Amino acid sequence: MKYIDPVSTQSWKNLKLHFNEIKNVHLKDFFKTDTSRFNNFSFFFKNKMLIDFSKNRITRCTINYLLQLAREMNLEEEIQSMFSGKKINYTENRSVLHVLLRNRNKKTILVNGENIVSKVNYVLEKMKNFSEKVISGEIKGYTGKTITDIVNIGIGGSSLGPNMVIEALSPYKNHLNIHFVSNIDGTHINQVLKKINSKTTLFLVASKTFTTEETMINAYTARNWFLEKTGNIQFVKKHFIALSMNFLEVKKFGIIKDYYFEFWDWVGGRYSLWSSIGLSIILSIGFKNFVDLLSGANDMDQHFLNSDLEDNIPVILALISIWYNNFFKFETEAIFAYDQNLNKLATYLQQLNMESNGKSVSRNGIKVNWETGPIIWGEAGTNGQHAFYQLMHQGTKIIPSDFIAAVNTHDKLYDHHKRLFSHFLAQTKSLAFGKSIEELKENFLNEKMETKEIEKIVPFRIFEGNRPSNSFLFEKITPYNLGLLLSVYEHKVFTQGIIFNIFSFDQWGVELGKKAANNIFSILKENKAFNAISYDSSTRNLINAYYSWIK
Ligand code: F6P
Repeated sequence: MKYIDPVSTQSWKNLKLHFNEIKNVHLKDFFKTDTSRFNNFSFFFKNKMLIDFSKNRITRCTINYLLQLAREMNLEEEIQSMFSGKKINYTENRSVLHVLLRNRNKKTILVNGENIVSKVNYVLEKMKNFSEKVISGEIKGYTGKTITDIVNIGIGGSSLGPNMVIEALSPYKNHLNIHFVSNIDGTHINQVLKKINSKTTLFLVASKTFTTEETMINAYTARNWFLEKTGNIQFVKKHFIALSMNFLEVKKFGIIKDYYFEFWDWVGGRYSLWSSIGLSIILSIGFKNFVDLLSGANDMDQHFLNSDLEDNIPVILALISIWYNNFFKFETEAIFAYDQNLNKLATYLQQLNMESNGKSVSRNGIKVNWETGPIIWGEAGTNGQHAFYQLMHQGTKIIPSDFIAAVNTHDKLYDHHKRLFSHFLAQTKSLAFGKSIEELKENFLNEKMETKEIEKIVPFRIFEGNRPSNSFLFEKITPYNLGLLLSVYEHKVFTQGIIFNIFSFDQWGVELGKKAANNIFSILKENKAFNAISYDSSTRNLINAYYSWIK
């Protein structure tokens, strides 16, 4: 495969010229000149999801140039490569096949000459049997008591995905209490240990590598706490479960094969909620709902794999994002879910997007001179409206945003949902179209304000608008629909990675911090004045301040 730099393509040059033509056009004018703009710039997917991307600063011509770019970058071929198991994670020499975990119809796919489908099915069946026995109460704790609590110990992809999904699908939850411990800060695990009973708790040690410092320290702390309570090492076997690909380390920890749920190197950490890392999800909402989640994701996978680029939802969303990031130079993208249960979505998408595309060296090994992954952030609506939306409406920065909502709520309560939904609609409308001087003056005149007063106040009350957004609309947040949504984002990130010409599936950038912390930990353990000149004066003095205050 030839790796092409996007800036060297003809379409990039076309986009640059096109940008100069339309950069100042207002969304109002796009809507005025195209009365079918909504129809032209929206997707209905299986009558389950509506994506309206009409409130973007694009024309049909923009989309055509962007599609030309995608073609010049061989996107279609790259998609085929991922789905057929080619080792597209080049720097780790791995296939990227999380999509296989949700395709229950696939019969064969070869990785290193081995058909891995049966392995996937075996683990899925094992998760089903295990979870059913825990939920029904058949599996009991060491004293014979029914299990009531599950603690997932993991970090990054071994925590964010399951944690987000369990919260998103909380209306489907059963009686089990699920807790997440990720931070190495002892406060995190302490908070959880205070709430649980060793007799009725299972610990899921979730770590692909089973060597991640935070997870292993927390897992051993949980094990010590458990041993203090039980006084019997044999009981560890009954209460500790491993979700990992490293059975050697799992065994050393004292976890038995029956309680080892395997996954593989071709599942990236941030794509692992679909693998055995999803065991906490199954324990919380049951196997059937997990399968619905998988099938939503699989339907979107098939759409991504088989649709023409112009009809391809993740592709179009990715291209629009590239348009903003690289031509308008908008640096961030926000996710606003108008659904309290999707509270953790933005944090999850932060890892998905920023760990994948936060790279600055191209696949040819040279420093890029174009923008790669944007900064992702967000918050559940309407909380943000009373915090940072001021800047979004009137600040000097423009923040393309995704607004997500469901027509029906799981929590019908008076008219809460209708009001929430009104905010969802009102925000994208106001961001796009704003409020002009003329509209403002008319409003004030209707309020019988004096002309002099109006002139004074108007500059501060103008909303320029022209701030773009996508709207994602669902009938309801169900496991299937959530699967659709997550798969859209995964493939959007994939598409962007291809067009940025970077390797999206490694994460070497997080290694530096890990090693540096290990070195400093050995210094802190010494507990004596630290003068090493190999360290900068700032770090050295912070270490010495630590020594002077440590008790
Ligand atoms: O933060 C780096 C990372 O490797 C993530 O990609 C991953 O999700 C996380 O650490 C946890 O890794 P593991 O599952 O191996 O403990």
